[in-house]
Amino acid sequence: MLKIMHIVGARPNFPKVAPIMAEMSKRPDLFDQVLVHTGQHYDYNMSQVFFEHLEMPAPDEYLNVGSASHAAQTAAIMVSFEPIVLKHRPDCVVVVGDVNSTVACALVCAKLGVRVAHVEAGLRSNDRTMPEEINRLLTDQISDLLFTPSKDGNENLIREGIDPAKIHFVGNVMIDTLIKLLPKALHRNKLRDFGLKPKEYILVTLHRPSNVDDPGVLRGILQAMAEISRDVPVIFPVHPRTRSRIHELNESIPNGTLQLVDPLGYLDFLALMNAAGLVLTDSGGIQEETTYLGVPCLTARPNTERPITVIEGTNRLVGSCCEELVEAMRKSFSRRDVLPRRPELWDGQAAARIAEVMLKM
Ligand code: UD1
Repeated sequence: MLKIMHIVGARPNFPKVAPIMAEMSKRPDLFDQVLVHTGQHYDYNMSQVFFEHLEMPAPDEYLNVGSASHAAQTAAIMVSFEPIVLKHRPDCVVVVGDVNSTVACALVCAKLGVRVAHVEAGLRSNDRTMPEEINRLLTDQISDLLFTPSKDGNENLIREGIDPAKIHFVGNVMIDTLIKLLPKALHRNKLRDFGLKPKEYILVTLHRPSNVDDPGVLRGILQAMAEISRDVPVIFPVHPRTRSRIHELNESIPNGTLQLVDPLGYLDFLALMNAAGLVLTDSGGIQEETTYLGVPCLTARPNTERPITVIEGTNRLVGSCCEELVEAMRKSFSRRDVLPRRPELWDGQAAARIAEVMLKM
Protein backbone atom coordinates (compact mmCIF):
# COMPACT_ATOMS: atom_id res chain seq x y z
CA MET A 1 0.00 0.00 0.00
CA LEU A 2 1.37 3.41 -1.01
CA LYS A 3 0.48 6.44 1.08
CA ILE A 4 0.14 9.37 -1.29
CA MET A 5 -0.32 12.96 -0.14
CA HIS A 6 -1.76 15.41 -2.70
CA ILE A 7 -1.30 19.18 -2.41
CA VAL A 8 -3.73 21.81 -3.66
CA GLY A 9 -3.54 25.52 -2.96
CA ALA A 10 -4.60 27.75 -5.80
CA ARG A 11 -7.36 27.60 -8.39
CA PRO A 12 -5.40 25.98 -11.23
CA ASN A 13 -4.35 23.09 -8.95
CA PHE A 14 -7.82 21.61 -8.54
CA PRO A 15 -8.44 20.28 -12.08
CA LYS A 16 -4.96 18.72 -12.04
CA VAL A 17 -5.27 16.86 -8.76
CA ALA A 18 -8.89 15.73 -9.25
CA PRO A 19 -8.20 13.11 -11.97
CA ILE A 20 -5.16 11.72 -10.14
CA MET A 21 -7.18 11.22 -6.95
CA ALA A 22 -10.08 9.72 -8.89
CA GLU A 23 -7.73 7.30 -10.62
CA MET A 24 -6.04 6.23 -7.40
CA SER A 25 -9.36 5.86 -5.60
CA LYS A 26 -10.21 3.06 -8.05
CA ARG A 27 -7.46 1.05 -6.30
CA PRO A 28 -8.04 1.44 -2.54
CA ASP A 29 -6.03 -1.72 -1.98
CA LEU A 30 -2.96 -0.04 -3.49
CA PHE A 31 -3.30 3.65 -2.64
CA ASP A 32 -4.02 5.37 0.65
CA GLN A 33 -4.65 9.05 -0.16
CA VAL A 34 -4.46 12.23 1.91
CA LEU A 35 -5.49 15.62 0.51
CA VAL A 36 -3.92 18.82 1.85
CA HIS A 37 -5.27 22.28 0.93
CA THR A 38 -2.85 25.07 1.81
CA GLY A 39 -5.56 27.74 1.63
CA GLN A 40 -3.54 29.92 -0.81
CA HIS A 41 -6.90 30.54 -2.48
CA TYR A 42 -9.86 30.68 -0.13
CA ASP A 43 -12.84 32.53 -1.66
CA TYR A 44 -15.79 30.27 -2.47
CA ASN A 45 -15.47 30.88 -6.22
CA MET A 46 -11.67 30.42 -6.20
CA SER A 47 -11.71 27.17 -4.22
CA GLN A 48 -14.84 25.48 -2.81
CA VAL A 49 -16.81 25.64 -6.07
CA PHE A 50 -14.07 23.55 -7.70
CA PHE A 51 -14.43 20.82 -5.10
CA GLU A 52 -18.13 20.69 -6.00
CA HIS A 53 -17.75 20.83 -9.79
CA LEU A 54 -14.81 18.43 -9.88
CA GLU A 55 -16.38 16.05 -7.35
CA MET A 56 -13.31 16.15 -5.15
CA PRO A 57 -13.28 14.89 -1.58
CA ALA A 58 -13.01 17.53 1.15
CA PRO A 59 -9.39 18.14 2.19
CA ASP A 60 -8.11 16.07 5.11
CA GLU A 61 -5.93 18.98 6.18
CA TYR A 62 -6.55 22.70 5.60
CA LEU A 63 -3.61 25.02 6.33
CA ASN A 64 -5.48 28.31 6.00
CA VAL A 65 -2.43 30.35 4.90
CA GLY A 66 -4.29 33.00 2.89
CA SER A 67 -2.73 35.83 0.90
CA ALA A 68 0.58 37.58 1.61
CA SER A 69 3.80 38.58 -0.14
CA HIS A 70 5.64 35.77 -1.92
CA ALA A 71 8.14 35.31 0.92
CA ALA A 72 5.52 35.44 3.66
CA GLN A 73 3.08 33.15 1.84
CA THR A 74 5.72 30.58 0.84
CA ALA A 75 7.19 30.57 4.35
CA ALA A 76 3.74 30.28 5.98
CA ILE A 77 2.93 27.27 3.83
CA MET A 78 6.24 25.61 4.76
CA VAL A 79 5.80 26.19 8.48
CA SER A 80 2.23 24.84 8.48
CA PHE A 81 2.98 21.95 6.16
CA GLU A 82 5.99 20.44 7.93
CA PRO A 83 4.02 19.02 10.91
CA ILE A 84 1.42 17.62 8.50
CA VAL A 85 4.08 15.60 6.71
CA LEU A 86 5.47 14.38 10.02
CA LYS A 87 1.96 13.41 11.19
CA HIS A 88 0.95 11.45 8.07
CA ARG A 89 4.37 10.16 6.97
CA PRO A 90 3.46 9.74 3.27
CA ASP A 91 5.50 7.59 0.90
CA CYS A 92 5.21 10.28 -1.73
CA VAL A 93 3.86 13.84 -1.92
CA VAL A 94 2.34 14.93 -5.23
CA VAL A 95 2.62 18.61 -6.13
CA VAL A 96 1.16 20.08 -9.32
CA GLY A 97 1.81 23.14 -11.46
CA ASP A 98 3.82 26.18 -10.48
CA VAL A 99 2.14 28.14 -7.70
CA ASN A 100 3.71 29.10 -4.37
CA SER A 101 2.06 26.08 -2.68
CA THR A 102 3.87 23.81 -5.16
CA VAL A 103 7.40 24.95 -4.37
CA ALA A 104 6.77 25.43 -0.65
CA CYS A 105 5.52 21.87 -0.11
CA ALA A 106 8.17 20.35 -2.39
CA LEU A 107 10.90 22.08 -0.40
CA VAL A 108 9.55 20.84 2.95
CA CYS A 109 9.50 17.26 1.64
CA ALA A 110 12.99 17.46 0.13
CA LYS A 111 14.37 18.55 3.51
CA LEU A 112 12.51 15.79 5.35
CA GLY A 113 13.64 13.15 2.87
CA VAL A 114 10.10 12.45 1.66
CA ARG A 115 9.71 11.69 -2.02
CA VAL A 116 8.15 14.38 -4.21
CA ALA A 117 6.38 13.84 -7.52
CA HIS A 118 5.87 16.94 -9.67
CA VAL A 119 2.99 16.83 -12.11
CA GLU A 120 3.34 19.30 -15.03
CA ALA A 121 7.12 19.25 -14.77
CA GLY A 122 9.57 20.70 -17.26
CA LEU A 123 7.57 23.67 -18.57
CA ARG A 124 9.76 26.74 -19.08
CA SER A 125 9.01 30.29 -20.21
CA ASN A 126 12.70 31.14 -19.72
CA ASP A 127 11.45 34.34 -18.12
CA ARG A 128 12.65 34.58 -14.54
CA THR A 129 10.66 37.72 -13.87
CA MET A 130 7.63 35.43 -13.59
CA PRO A 131 7.25 34.05 -10.06
CA GLU A 132 5.91 30.82 -11.56
CA GLU A 133 9.14 30.25 -13.51
CA ILE A 134 11.13 30.34 -10.27
CA ASN A 135 8.65 27.91 -8.72
CA ARG A 136 8.94 25.55 -11.70
CA LEU A 137 12.76 25.58 -11.79
CA LEU A 138 13.15 24.92 -8.07
CA THR A 139 10.41 22.31 -7.79
CA ASP A 140 11.83 20.30 -10.68
CA GLN A 141 15.34 20.34 -9.21
CA ILE A 142 14.20 18.80 -5.91
CA SER A 143 11.55 16.37 -7.20
CA ASP A 144 12.12 12.61 -7.37
CA LEU A 145 9.53 11.93 -10.06
CA LEU A 146 8.82 14.37 -12.87
CA PHE A 147 5.67 13.94 -14.93
CA THR A 148 5.71 16.02 -18.10
CA PRO A 149 2.67 17.06 -20.19
CA SER A 150 4.62 17.42 -23.45
CA LYS A 151 8.00 16.36 -24.76
CA ASP A 152 9.49 19.85 -24.64
CA GLY A 153 9.28 19.36 -20.86
CA ASN A 154 11.55 16.31 -21.09
CA GLU A 155 14.06 18.26 -23.19
CA ASN A 156 14.11 21.18 -20.75
CA LEU A 157 14.67 18.89 -17.77
CA ILE A 158 17.46 16.94 -19.43
CA ARG A 159 19.15 20.21 -20.41
CA GLU A 160 19.03 21.22 -16.73
CA GLY A 161 20.81 18.04 -15.70
CA ILE A 162 17.87 16.04 -14.32
CA ASP A 163 18.39 12.27 -14.38
CA PRO A 164 16.29 10.98 -17.33
CA ALA A 165 15.23 7.97 -15.21
CA LYS A 166 13.13 10.34 -13.07
CA ILE A 167 11.27 11.86 -16.03
CA HIS A 168 8.02 10.40 -17.35
CA PHE A 169 6.09 11.85 -20.27
CA VAL A 170 2.49 11.12 -19.29
CA GLY A 171 0.39 13.80 -21.03
CA ASN A 172 -1.84 16.51 -19.62
CA VAL A 173 -3.89 15.78 -16.49
CA MET A 174 -5.97 18.92 -16.90
CA ILE A 175 -7.17 17.60 -20.23
CA ASP A 176 -8.27 14.41 -18.41
CA THR A 177 -10.62 16.62 -16.39
CA LEU A 178 -11.79 18.56 -19.44
CA ILE A 179 -12.64 15.39 -21.36
CA LYS A 180 -14.52 13.95 -18.42
CA LEU A 181 -16.55 17.05 -17.59
CA LEU A 182 -17.24 18.71 -20.95
CA PRO A 183 -20.60 16.92 -21.44
CA LYS A 184 -21.72 17.99 -17.97
CA ALA A 185 -20.55 21.57 -18.58
CA LEU A 186 -22.55 21.82 -21.79
CA HIS A 187 -25.70 20.72 -19.97
CA ARG A 188 -25.76 23.76 -17.72
CA ASN A 189 -26.70 26.27 -20.42
CA LYS A 190 -24.57 29.04 -18.99
CA LEU A 191 -24.45 30.96 -22.28
CA ARG A 192 -28.12 31.74 -22.08
CA ASP A 193 -27.73 33.19 -18.57
CA PHE A 194 -25.22 35.69 -19.90
CA GLY A 195 -27.16 36.39 -23.11
CA LEU A 196 -24.36 35.04 -25.31
CA LYS A 197 -24.55 33.17 -28.61
CA PRO A 198 -22.11 30.42 -29.60
CA LYS A 199 -18.99 31.74 -31.38
CA GLU A 200 -20.30 35.30 -31.16
CA TYR A 201 -18.41 36.58 -28.13
CA ILE A 202 -14.92 36.99 -26.71
CA LEU A 203 -14.03 35.49 -23.32
CA VAL A 204 -11.32 37.30 -21.34
CA THR A 205 -9.31 36.33 -18.24
CA LEU A 206 -6.35 38.35 -16.99
CA HIS A 207 -4.60 38.20 -13.65
CA ARG A 208 -0.81 38.20 -14.19
CA PRO A 209 0.95 40.91 -12.18
CA SER A 210 2.63 42.05 -15.45
CA ASN A 211 -0.80 42.86 -16.93
CA VAL A 212 -2.83 44.05 -13.97
CA ASP A 213 -0.45 45.52 -11.39
CA ASP A 214 0.76 48.39 -13.60
CA PRO A 215 -2.09 50.93 -13.86
CA GLY A 216 -0.96 52.09 -17.32
CA VAL A 217 -0.98 48.56 -18.75
CA LEU A 218 -4.29 47.70 -17.10
CA ARG A 219 -5.89 50.90 -18.38
CA GLY A 220 -4.79 50.04 -21.94
CA ILE A 221 -6.22 46.53 -21.66
CA LEU A 222 -9.57 47.85 -20.41
CA GLN A 223 -9.64 50.40 -23.24
CA ALA A 224 -9.02 47.62 -25.75
CA MET A 225 -11.88 45.60 -24.32
CA ALA A 226 -14.21 48.58 -24.33
CA GLU A 227 -13.33 49.24 -27.96
CA ILE A 228 -13.76 45.68 -29.23
CA SER A 229 -16.99 45.30 -27.26
CA ARG A 230 -18.60 47.89 -29.53
CA ASP A 231 -18.54 45.19 -32.22
CA VAL A 232 -18.45 41.91 -30.29
CA PRO A 233 -19.83 41.04 -26.85
CA VAL A 234 -17.02 40.52 -24.33
CA ILE A 235 -17.36 38.57 -21.10
CA PHE A 236 -14.66 38.95 -18.48
CA PRO A 237 -14.78 36.87 -15.26
CA VAL A 238 -12.55 38.95 -13.02
CA HIS A 239 -9.90 37.39 -10.73
CA PRO A 240 -9.81 38.99 -7.23
CA ARG A 241 -6.33 40.45 -7.87
CA THR A 242 -7.59 42.10 -11.07
CA ARG A 243 -10.82 43.22 -9.39
CA SER A 244 -8.92 45.14 -6.73
CA ARG A 245 -6.56 46.69 -9.30
CA ILE A 246 -9.51 47.84 -11.42
CA HIS A 247 -11.07 49.27 -8.28
CA GLU A 248 -7.85 51.18 -7.55
CA LEU A 249 -7.92 52.71 -11.05
CA ASN A 250 -11.16 54.34 -10.02
CA GLU A 251 -12.39 54.59 -13.60
CA SER A 252 -15.83 53.79 -14.86
CA ILE A 253 -16.07 50.80 -17.16
CA PRO A 254 -18.30 51.66 -20.10
CA ASN A 255 -21.63 49.93 -19.98
CA GLY A 256 -22.23 48.08 -23.16
CA THR A 257 -21.51 44.61 -24.34
CA LEU A 258 -18.54 44.34 -21.97
CA GLN A 259 -19.64 42.24 -19.00
CA LEU A 260 -17.38 42.07 -15.94
CA VAL A 261 -18.54 39.16 -13.80
CA ASP A 262 -17.30 37.27 -10.74
CA PRO A 263 -14.92 34.32 -11.24
CA LEU A 264 -16.79 31.27 -12.50
CA GLY A 265 -16.75 27.67 -11.36
CA TYR A 266 -15.04 25.01 -13.46
CA LEU A 267 -18.08 23.80 -15.42
CA ASP A 268 -19.45 27.22 -16.32
CA PHE A 269 -16.06 28.53 -17.38
CA LEU A 270 -15.48 25.45 -19.51
CA ALA A 271 -18.82 25.94 -21.25
CA LEU A 272 -18.01 29.60 -21.98
CA MET A 273 -14.56 28.68 -23.25
CA ASN A 274 -15.86 25.91 -25.50
CA ALA A 275 -18.36 28.18 -27.27
CA ALA A 276 -16.23 31.35 -27.46
CA GLY A 277 -15.27 32.89 -30.80
CA LEU A 278 -12.00 33.92 -29.17
CA VAL A 279 -10.36 33.72 -25.75
CA LEU A 280 -7.97 36.42 -24.55
CA THR A 281 -5.99 35.31 -21.51
CA ASP A 282 -2.73 35.37 -19.61
CA SER A 283 -3.40 32.09 -17.81
CA GLY A 284 -1.29 28.99 -18.39
CA GLY A 285 -4.00 26.34 -18.32
CA ILE A 286 -6.39 28.20 -20.61
CA GLN A 287 -3.79 28.15 -23.39
CA GLU A 288 -3.94 24.36 -23.17
CA GLU A 289 -7.69 24.02 -22.82
CA THR A 290 -8.40 26.23 -25.85
CA THR A 291 -5.87 24.22 -27.86
CA TYR A 292 -7.69 21.02 -27.00
CA LEU A 293 -11.08 22.58 -27.78
CA GLY A 294 -9.86 24.15 -31.05
CA VAL A 295 -10.86 27.64 -29.91
CA PRO A 296 -8.66 30.56 -31.05
CA CYS A 297 -6.66 31.93 -28.12
CA LEU A 298 -4.59 35.08 -27.68
CA THR A 299 -2.17 35.06 -24.78
CA ALA A 300 -1.27 38.55 -23.58
CA ARG A 301 2.31 37.74 -22.64
CA PRO A 302 5.72 38.06 -24.30
CA ASN A 303 6.42 34.34 -23.82
CA THR A 304 4.82 31.06 -22.85
CA GLU A 305 5.97 28.01 -20.93
CA ARG A 306 3.57 26.04 -23.11
CA PRO A 307 5.04 26.48 -26.63
CA ILE A 308 3.22 23.39 -27.86
CA THR A 309 -0.04 25.39 -27.75
CA VAL A 310 1.46 27.81 -30.29
CA ILE A 311 3.25 25.22 -32.43
CA GLU A 312 0.46 22.66 -32.57
CA GLY A 313 -2.54 24.44 -31.13
CA THR A 314 -4.64 27.58 -31.46
CA ASN A 315 -2.60 29.90 -29.27
CA ARG A 316 -0.88 33.15 -30.37
CA LEU A 317 1.15 35.49 -28.21
CA VAL A 318 0.20 39.14 -28.22
CA GLY A 319 1.47 42.30 -26.53
CA SER A 320 -0.61 44.00 -23.84
CA CYS A 321 -0.93 47.50 -25.32
CA CYS A 322 -4.33 48.72 -26.44
CA GLU A 323 -3.74 48.97 -30.21
CA GLU A 324 -2.01 45.61 -30.46
CA LEU A 325 -4.79 43.90 -28.52
CA VAL A 326 -7.59 45.43 -30.57
CA GLU A 327 -5.90 44.52 -33.85
CA ALA A 328 -5.12 40.98 -32.74
CA MET A 329 -8.64 40.41 -31.40
CA ARG A 330 -10.19 41.62 -34.65
CA LYS A 331 -7.92 39.31 -36.67
CA SER A 332 -8.36 36.26 -34.47
CA PHE A 333 -12.05 36.44 -33.65
CA SER A 334 -13.77 33.32 -34.94
CA ARG A 335 -10.79 32.44 -37.10
CA ARG A 336 -11.84 29.46 -39.17
CA ASP A 337 -8.40 28.71 -40.58
CA VAL A 338 -7.10 27.12 -37.39
CA LEU A 339 -6.59 23.41 -37.77
CA PRO A 340 -5.23 22.49 -34.39
CA ARG A 341 -3.64 19.17 -33.63
CA ARG A 342 -4.32 17.71 -30.26
CA PRO A 343 -0.91 17.32 -28.66
CA GLU A 344 0.40 13.81 -28.05
CA LEU A 345 -1.04 12.06 -24.97
CA TRP A 346 -3.61 14.77 -24.27
CA ASP A 347 -6.11 11.95 -24.32
CA GLY A 348 -7.78 11.68 -20.93
CA GLN A 349 -5.40 8.99 -19.65
CA ALA A 350 -2.60 11.04 -18.10
CA ALA A 351 -3.67 10.31 -14.51
CA ALA A 352 -3.81 6.58 -15.22
CA ARG A 353 -0.22 6.74 -16.50
CA ILE A 354 0.86 8.61 -13.37
CA ALA A 355 -0.73 5.99 -11.11
CA GLU A 356 0.98 3.24 -13.05
CA VAL A 357 4.43 4.84 -12.72
CA MET A 358 3.87 5.40 -8.99
CA LEU A 359 3.05 1.74 -8.48
CA LYS A 360 6.32 0.72 -10.10
CA MET A 361 8.18 3.20 -7.93
C1 UD1 B 1 -1.82 32.58 -8.10
C2 UD1 B 1 -0.57 31.91 -8.69
C3 UD1 B 1 -0.62 31.98 -10.20
C4 UD1 B 1 -1.91 31.40 -10.73
C5 UD1 B 1 -3.08 32.08 -10.06
C6 UD1 B 1 -4.39 31.51 -10.50
C7 UD1 B 1 1.51 32.08 -7.40
C8 UD1 B 1 2.81 32.76 -7.32
N1 UD1 B 1 0.64 32.61 -8.27
O1 UD1 B 1 -1.79 33.94 -8.46
O2 UD1 B 1 0.46 31.25 -10.73
O3 UD1 B 1 -1.97 31.59 -12.12
O4 UD1 B 1 -2.95 31.94 -8.64
O5 UD1 B 1 -5.48 32.14 -9.94
O6 UD1 B 1 1.29 31.12 -6.70
N2 UD1 B 1 -7.30 36.74 -3.48
C9 UD1 B 1 -8.59 36.77 -3.02
N3 UD1 B 1 -9.21 35.56 -2.81
C10 UD1 B 1 -8.61 34.38 -3.03
C11 UD1 B 1 -7.29 34.38 -3.49
C12 UD1 B 1 -6.64 35.56 -3.72
O7 UD1 B 1 -9.18 37.82 -2.82
O8 UD1 B 1 -9.25 33.33 -2.82
C13 UD1 B 1 -6.63 38.05 -3.76
C14 UD1 B 1 -5.78 38.56 -2.61
O9 UD1 B 1 -5.89 39.94 -2.59
C15 UD1 B 1 -4.37 38.18 -3.04
C16 UD1 B 1 -4.46 38.29 -4.56
O10 UD1 B 1 -5.78 37.88 -4.88
O11 UD1 B 1 -3.41 39.03 -2.49
C17 UD1 B 1 -3.46 37.41 -5.28
O12 UD1 B 1 -3.55 36.05 -4.82
P1 UD1 B 1 -2.23 35.11 -4.86
O13 UD1 B 1 -2.59 33.73 -4.46
O14 UD1 B 1 -1.13 35.78 -4.12
O15 UD1 B 1 -1.79 35.15 -6.36
P2 UD1 B 1 -2.66 35.01 -7.69
O16 UD1 B 1 -2.56 36.28 -8.42
O17 UD1 B 1 -4.01 34.46 -7.39
